[in-house]
Amino acid sequence: MARLPIDKLTPLEAQAEHAALGEEIAGHDQRYYADDAPSISDADYDALRRRYEALETAFPHLKSAESLTQKVGAAPSAKFGKIRHAVPMLSLANAFSSDDVADFVARIRRFLDWPVDTALFFTAEPKIDGLSCSLRYEKGVLVHAATRGDGFEGEDVTANVRTIAGIPHHLPAGAPDVAEVRGEIYLSHADFAAINARQAEAGEKVFANPRNAAAGSLRQLDARITAARPLKFFAYAWGEMSAMPALTQSGMVAAFRIWGFPTNDRMALCDGAAALLAHYQAIEAERASLGYDIDGVVYKVDDLALQARLGFVARSPRWAIAHKFAAEKAMTVLEGIDIQVGRTGAHTPVAKLKPVTVGGVVVSNATLHNQDEIAKKDIRIGDTVVVQRAGDVIPQVVEVVLDKRPAGAEPYNFPHVCRCELKTPLVREETAAGEEGAVARCTGEFACPYQRIEHLRHFVSRRAFDIEGLGEKQIEIFFNCPVETLRIREPADIFTLEARNKASSVQKIENFEGFGAISVANLFAAINARRVIALERFIYALGVRHVGETTAKVLARAYGSWDAFRDACGRIAVGDGDAVAEMDALDQIGEAVVTALGRFFAEPHNASMVARLAAEVRVVDAEKPKADTAVAGKTVVFTGSLEKMTRDEAKARAESLGAKVAGSVSKKTDIVVAGPGAGSKLDKARDLGVAVLTEDEWLTLIGG
Ligand code: IVH
Repeated sequence: MARLPIDKLTPLEAQAEHAALGEEIAGHDQRYYADDAPSISDADYDALRRRYEALETAFPHLKSAESLTQKVGAAPSAKFGKIRHAVPMLSLANAFSSDDVADFVARIRRFLDWPVDTALFFTAEPKIDGLSCSLRYEKGVLVHAATRGDGFEGEDVTANVRTIAGIPHHLPAGAPDVAEVRGEIYLSHADFAAINARQAEAGEKVFANPRNAAAGSLRQLDARITAARPLKFFAYAWGEMSAMPALTQSGMVAAFRIWGFPTNDRMALCDGAAALLAHYQAIEAERASLGYDIDGVVYKVDDLALQARLGFVARSPRWAIAHKFAAEKAMTVLEGIDIQVGRTGAHTPVAKLKPVTVGGVVVSNATLHNQDEIAKKDIRIGDTVVVQRAGDVIPQVVEVVLDKRPAGAEPYNFPHVCRCELKTPLVREETAAGEEGAVARCTGEFACPYQRIEHLRHFVSRRAFDIEGLGEKQIEIFFNCPVETLRIREPADIFTLEARNKASSVQKIENFEGFGAISVANLFAAINARRVIALERFIYALGVRHVGETTAKVLARAYGSWDAFRDACGRIAVGDGDAVAEMDALDQIGEAVVTALGRFFAEPHNASMVARLAAEVRVVDAEKPKADTAVAGKTVVFTGSLEKMTRDEAKARAESLGAKVAGSVSKKTDIVVAGPGAGSKLDKARDLGVAVLTEDEWLTLIGG
């Protein structure tokens, strides 16, 4: 996205951009750290972060304890136990150019008042693209292992780490009583490829890159799965040490090696910026042949006494920096543009390229994002384009080399109708800001064959119909079933499958590969168990755009029964102003939801599909929210940790008593329930004079 130069921003614009960027970065952090599924390249992420930091430098009032520049990583996931780091696991600042490196060295000399002609040694070593881990040894025995988490608290992955071949379970005699050794867990390219091949064969998800595969392998609740993945480790840092085995960074790493840890043999000692840059180039030249992913070179002041004097700024040490590699680029010819139709009907253009090697990988497809990107960059078929591969995610087309445009190349016309045979017109929805959205979407929903299978997958997912034994894999099998009479093409088909199987004289599901009499009987039992379903789940399962779980719950409570809800949607579909106004007036329901429901039910195919489904199941009316409780109609915010129940339980309980649970504190908040560790939300509640209760006081209020 084009951004205004920072010096052209008004304080208000800066504040708005800072807040929006903060949210965007937090979303990426969540996907990267907690979900192991990043959606942008590291280079793009770094660019967002740099902009965020630049905004804070230019407008210092934007910096607060909540600022992302004060945090590292993401909160640990709830599925593992937590471990508080004895010494926080911090992050590194980045350098992107030789000038940044020269500045880094000059800054340190200035800070230490170190004369220019006196040697100042740094270690320079590869920045391994894996995930960091802290290993704690007490009296020479590995007692626990934790991921970085948010830097202060990580996940307890001890059982999994014990399965990693290179990590010693014991330290030799003479090692300090308490020794926390830190480093990177990673996967080699060869092992990554083998894991993905196995995953693909088993029909499981394949990992985007070795780092995600390493994270996914380590963060397994079942340590046997971790054990089957050949994770590796390099030691390069430490946390608490009851005694120091060395006085320098390089000496510490040498001690780790003697203790039995793998360490990286590309570490060098360099005096000053020129030597650092020379080693950087040497490592970059070797990058493709190392056999594991690295994304830069880390420089650290070698003398630990100097490190101590230099200390930290915000989230990173002043004595170290990560010099990142630039994204890798190459030129090639754009031979065509394909349109892919995604789950929500989004039409995404994909560049078909003359195969080219970018940073050691052959690339023949690249994303073009959306039609505006194509128009903005004026990308035409036949053009020579610059392709960039930033370490991991899908390659991108960066720009067109105009000098090489062939005569007669025409501007690209983005299609106006869906690729499917129905040729449904594509629409570009409005963004929240009222602008035309970038994504062209087919509104056919269930009528569009491209979207149908995705809808079915959603329909059977855990938070929707949750049919045991009918997951994504089985949906795909039944969707493409060669026996036409046994296909599942719409939700109602799931519920008629048993009868159709019984009626089928020749081919029966029992005879399909991977199915037997028992599994088929179990499948039908599981399907039948879902013939009775709560209204909110039913609404959510329909998979209408913008209608997530929370929205479905609000709608179910407001309309009470399936008949009332369907009638309202039917009226909205034909433009009945009263019905539109009634839904629009509901708390938490906006225009996007009303429009999406109207569109969905206006499509005759969808309406009849839903009718067929409703005939197969019994939809249980929603409970009207209680109006006679102490908290009915009140807006409640939970903050800090709860000790007697989980967040989900607390929320469900409060909602069942007629309260509304919000995520942030505002003037509209009635009650804040604050547990240990509550921070800015609690401060805000106090500032606004909102009632603050402990968890126990809350429980007393709602009757235990
Ligand atoms: S030193 C105080 N050395 O990069 C910081 N980190 O952004 C200590 N990393 O979380 C980290 N290779 O996951 C250090 N040779 C290396 C590294 C390295 C990879 C990662 C690590 C850290 C992140 C910093």
